[in-house]
Amino acid sequence: MFRFFRQLNALEDRSWVASRSNLGSALADRVFTTDTLQDRLVRALAAARILPIKEILECGELFERIREDVRAEQMADLCCGHGLLGILFALFERRVQHVLLADEREPPSHAKLLACARQVGPWIDDKVTFRQARIQDVGSALLPGTAIVSAHACGTLTDQCLDLATALGGAVAVLPCCYPQRTCPAPPAVQLALGHALAYDVDRTYRLEQAGYHVRWTTIPAEITPMNRVLIGHRRRPATAAPAV
Ligand SMILES: C[S@@+](CC[C@H](N)C(=O)[O-])C[C@H]1O[C@@H](n2cnc3c(N)ncnc32)[C@H](O)[C@@H]1O
Repeated sequence: MFRFFRQLNALEDRSWVASRSNLGSALADRVFTTDTLQDRLVRALAAARILPIKEILECGELFERIREDVRAEQMADLCCGHGLLGILFALFERRVQHVLLADEREPPSHAKLLACARQVGPWIDDKVTFRQARIQDVGSALLPGTAIVSAHACGTLTDQCLDLATALGGAVAVLPCCYPQRTCPAPPAVQLALGHALAYDVDRTYRLEQAGYHVRWTTIPAEITPMNRVLIGHRRRPATAAPAV
């Protein structure tokens, strides 16, 4: 079920949704036709022909599933690549004051994407900063309580996103990918029974819960990517002391 781009649910042929070709105007003008902010953004991206179809749909559907849980004044999109996920928070969520986009390398698509996003939402101007930095070095730039999001941070980079989130104490949402079996911390019996990818995320969930988080799982449509599990965590409120009797 598509929730950000609901018009896709009515299409008979969605064979193109996982395409790695850059989205162009012919498709955008046929499918993303409304005056909503998301359709206007997609048409701007298509006119500039800068992002693969899959990545636009992936970020949009992920954003729609996590926005209410993780929006915060300060946010960071880690291993952000082009940075679309973080940019969606700056565009759509009034409460978000600043989004740090961080990646060890700034892809050429980022500046073009930001220009398209500014075109449809000039209010994001002061809300987004790209920082070229390794995830290992980005923590000192983040305030306590910063919410962390990350789409397809490869392997243990996802674990580093979770570690940073728990250190800062903010909400977190990740869409993990490439689960390296060699680093899977789950016990062999669990890996054997569940498969190591699922076992990996079960282990991540226990770790978050042990760090004081409440965790929820959801998915984005598997038609876009088979790596579609989403882990969302909120720090639980500290238990209030029972009244003295
Ligand atoms: C699979 S891409 C995902 C990009 C983007 N989030 C997306 O959904 O399209 C993984 C990203 O992690 C970045 N990366 C790899 N190692 C990193 C590190 N140690 N610190 C920060 N970013 C890193 C890569 O440059 C790449 O952009």
